[in-house]
Amino acid sequence: MATESVRTTQEQMQNGLSTEKIRMMIDACGSGNTALIEQLAAENPLFIRQQDFETGLSPLMAAAKTGNLELSKRLLDRGAPWNAVDRDGNCAGNHAMSGEHWELVNYLVEWGTRAELVLGEMQRCQQQAGISIIPQAPTKDPGYQSSTKSDYLKHQLRYSKDGNALLDGDDDAVMMEWERPIMKAHASIMMQAPGKRVMNVGFGMGIIDSILQEHNPALHIIIEAHPDVYQKMLKDKWDQKPNVKIFHGRWQDVIPQLAKEKVEVDAIFYDTYGEHAFDMEDFHFAMSDILSKPLGVYSFFNGLAPDNLFFHGVACQVIKLQLGKLGFDSEFLQCQIEVNDNKVWDGVRRKYWHGRDVYYLPRITWNQEYIGRKTKANSNEEHVDTDMEENSTKRQRR
Ligand SMILES: C[S@@+](CC[C@H](N)C(=O)[O-])C[C@H]1O[C@@H](n2cnc3c(N)ncnc32)[C@H](O)[C@@H]1O
Repeated sequence: MATESVRTTQEQMQNGLSTEKIRMMIDACGSGNTALIEQLAAENPLFIRQQDFETGLSPLMAAAKTGNLELSKRLLDRGAPWNAVDRDGNCAGNHAMSGEHWELVNYLVEWGTRAELVLGEMQRCQQQAGISIIPQAPTKDPGYQSSTKSDYLKHQLRYSKDGNALLDGDDDAVMMEWERPIMKAHASIMMQAPGKRVMNVGFGMGIIDSILQEHNPALHIIIEAHPDVYQKMLKDKWDQKPNVKIFHGRWQDVIPQLAKEKVEVDAIFYDTYGEHAFDMEDFHFAMSDILSKPLGVYSFFNGLAPDNLFFHGVACQVIKLQLGKLGFDSEFLQCQIEVNDNKVWDGVRRKYWHGRDVYYLPRITWNQEYIGRKTKANSNEEHVDTDMEENSTKRQRR
């Protein structure tokens, strides 16, 4: 998720914004001093967008700290960035959460979700027009850098000697053993009974696939793109396991083929590596063609915006809305996890989990009303004129 970085004092000075008045604006927002806020905004509307150079605090963060909903709304309407972070990496939403100002938290989540959806559409248009996507502000700490790697399939991978990680050519972890309990939880919500047809996208260390095998699936499809991982699968004789069907290739190529062959599965798990958020959005569109109705279950590894709980909430909400347009209901089940021992990251360049001990496990199911309407429409050969339909056809054209 893109965040706004703190402007330099030099930039602020160039715009005629003195440090002293920036601080006055922030203090005024903290104390709800409307007269002073209006006086400074009249002098220069840019004061609303500034952050204290030392602390990174912004007028919106100051208002959020005290739970001032009306002022926060006014600041947002007048251009205050919802996603600016202070020097500790906290945004206005984090400050509102710390103060337990839940009405304001919800308002900020809604605002952030709308902003992300609009930004996403803009970036899609740019991508289609061949314009490069607005770059994110660079950060030095690899733990906070983007995990997208367009050259991932060219990396040479290695499984660590202790068997605890699969690493790429940059020593970034593709998969790690500490995720096993999470994988177990995913498998348990997808495989409520033996004899299910399941599809896993991304083999990695084979953790979830080993667990899925314990649930005696009637069909177990595994899609894996990387040649080194595929070789490991063959070495470990995954091609000889009961009911396993391996597809060596990218899901982008494999799933349309499966859909053409009218393959259906009861459960789908998505956990790839190095892909962009757009890939995930496209995946949702593709998988909706092969997930069985009415009881199919879909889940994915939820590492969205892992370094900030508020941004994570916004990212989950964005996914929920996107899936809603395809006819799905989404819930995020809270699971307690433990990743506090920093030793697990030894030898790994980029930490992709930041000590949060609650994992929000996605459980995605068909919205029964939506499939009812679709089935009726199909049998009548009529077009159902709903937002959901409109959006799914729109995506098909891409
Ligand atoms: C995080 S690992 C999966 C870990 C797995 N859930 C487990 O339990 O061990 C991601 C895997 O997705 C594979 N992958 C990445 N992009 C892919 C794509 N477009 N299609 C299929 N597999 C892909 C990677 O090669 C890697 O093996």
